[in-house]
Amino acid sequence: MNINGCYNFEDFRKLAKKKLPSPIFNYIDGGADDEITLRRNTEAFDDCDLVPNILNNVGEPDLSTTIFGKKIDMPIFLSPTAMQRLYHHDGDKASARAAEKFGTFYSMSSMANTTMEEISNVSSGPKLFQLYVHKDKSITDDLIERSKRSGFDAMCLTVDTLVAGNRERDHRTGFTTPPKLTLQSLISFAIHPQWVFNYFTHPKFELANVSKKTDKGTNIAKSVIDYVNEQYDPTMNWKDAEYIVKKWDGPFALKGVMSVEDAKKAIDIGCTAIMISNHGGRQLDGSRSPFDQVKAISDAVGDKLEIILDGGVRRGTHVLKALSAGATACSFGKAFLFSLGAGGQEGVERLLENMHKEIRRNMILMGCKSIKDLDASKIIYRK
Ligand code: LAC
Repeated sequence: MNINGCYNFEDFRKLAKKKLPSPIFNYIDGGADDEITLRRNTEAFDDCDLVPNILNNVGEPDLSTTIFGKKIDMPIFLSPTAMQRLYHHDGDKASARAAEKFGTFYSMSSMANTTMEEISNVSSGPKLFQLYVHKDKSITDDLIERSKRSGFDAMCLTVDTLVAGNRERDHRTGFTTPPKLTLQSLISFAIHPQWVFNYFTHPKFELANVSKKTDKGTNIAKSVIDYVNEQYDPTMNWKDAEYIVKKWDGPFALKGVMSVEDAKKAIDIGCTAIMISNHGGRQLDGSRSPFDQVKAISDAVGDKLEIILDGGVRRGTHVLKALSAGATACSFGKAFLFSLGAGGQEGVERLLENMHKEIRRNMILMGCKSIKDLDASKIIYRK
């Protein structure tokens, strides 16, 4: 199978699995503990049904919406995800270029392998920077100042990763940043010679935005769990978040908000958006799914905050359900990383094209001319 044979999430996942050494595939594919939340994130969409309206003279629907002060051409964008250079040697550059082509946001992780300055040179599309609060405050400040200077349009602060979740697949495969050959992983790297060739013949792997400040994760191999636990500040609080919102002074989201109460506090500290997220089921297993929280949060604060649903999205109809429940837009991580692993920029473009087609087709079938037509009347919960 190749990229042109990929029609859905599972197709991209299978192709990525074939192309990537097992520690890398499993790092994307896995969740925390028993992966109950990971599964629930997608299953939650099945607990409600869309209710179409007929004979609505739809014609060509308008898929555009506005988030973080930017008009985007479709209501879904790429979530910030770490170490994209592992999935394809073009890494973040491939994702940023693909997102720009489809008129939507690319997001950069604090743990990216490309600098924000390099990304501004290759893409003039809308860009979001994801921040982790480091124990070393000078790293956090440097990331904020540089992303501003590099022309990033918005910032999100991840608030659900004070310690790393228990990702047992990574323990088993011995996954590290940078990847390290271990007895367990030897065979898996050996049977993926193309990946190994590309890894060694392209610019060196580094955590590019922090490598000048710390060798960990770049020259000193670390499991991601150890990296997170050593680098990120577990005492982060609302005052710290408020300081960052002020320092950034632009469109800003907390990423990892799950409760109505926290969504209200996000408004108080000056956020313009929240990302309802449980980090793709990689942190607190047993946590509620983002989709299950959209309605309550939107009912409470939807008129004051943009609401991004991040988690479990695999189909255009998932986006339609999220928007009908009250989300402004959606983002996805795993789906796009598999497409990146499966085919680089071309893979991500194929995924975004598939999603665009699915959203467009299903909006027509729903009788919706524009995103704002997707409202509470379009969805019924089964229980
Ligand atoms: C993850 C973190 C590091 O692996 O974002 O999910």
